[in-house]
Amino acid sequence: MSTRPRVVVTRRLPQPVEEELSRDFDARLNRDDQPLGPDGLKEALQTADALLCTVTDRLTAEVLGAEPRRARMLANFGVGFNHIDVQTAKHLGLAVSNTPDVLTEATADLAITLLLMVSRRTGEGERHVRSGSWTGWRPTHMLGSQVSGKVLGLVGMGRIARAVARRAHHGFGMRVIFHDPYPPSPAEAASLGAEPRASLDHVLEEADFVSLHCPATPETRHLMNRERLGRMQRSSFLINTARGDVVDEAALAEALSEGTIAGAALDVFEKEPQVSPQLLSLENVVLLPHLGSATHETRIAMGMRALENLRLFFRGAPLRDPVT
Ligand code: DGY
Repeated sequence: MSTRPRVVVTRRLPQPVEEELSRDFDARLNRDDQPLGPDGLKEALQTADALLCTVTDRLTAEVLGAEPRRARMLANFGVGFNHIDVQTAKHLGLAVSNTPDVLTEATADLAITLLLMVSRRTGEGERHVRSGSWTGWRPTHMLGSQVSGKVLGLVGMGRIARAVARRAHHGFGMRVIFHDPYPPSPAEAASLGAEPRASLDHVLEEADFVSLHCPATPETRHLMNRERLGRMQRSSFLINTARGDVVDEAALAEALSEGTIAGAALDVFEKEPQVSPQLLSLENVVLLPHLGSATHETRIAMGMRALENLRLFFRGAPLRDPVT
């Protein structure tokens, strides 16, 4: 019998991470990469000392309550943890960690990718070329919206939003405005060329591009509803790299069809991997499959960060990234 802690790894991870996991732990890897589902997660909680889990594992109160439970820790591979009922985990004495910092740059890059894609109609353009419909250059063909010099409104001003602000301001000469109940210091905001606004509505009304960077909580669920989408300018665009729950997807599809806003670019959805059929049928929305942190470098760094938290936990040391 191994004396190393047993860790169930719920999804396939980059090879260097799986190698280190197998060296330091009695790791049960998921070679098929199929989500475990509620029953598999319960079994893992009952048979392992820790789970290395991801956004695709819904660790609800019901799942976490599986008895008799052996697990004492959940090392989440990702910064967002709205898929984990953290209050229940805390109540049950389960430690939970996440992987902040290491995915900031990759996710900010993707937010800028989305912003450029939707404003310059690159998804539509690609479909146009691939379908063989392109008849050649002409001065009025597929005109988009200029990015340089426009106003970017950030909803939330945490690490990723700040990295987006830096790119937008210093790279594209955008004017950046933001709203966050916990704003950065005036000096930091100034270094990003970012100006605070007193309310979310001010940001929505003034911005040419609104990019969402708030966590998914009961308070932010459907933050971007019909009414708030209606506050945005008709020429403006919505970008979401945060969580699908923050946007009322049905209200967004309606706003896009009716021209309430000019376009949207989404990396996250309310019921992943399902995307509302209405959105799929629209040309003025860019749809990506939750790629925010999806670079080789970042996914390895996320795995190593989760491993660091696991090692600290089983050594009895404080976690680097506790979320409970
Ligand atoms: C994150 O880190 O939150 C990503 O969205 C994957 O979970």
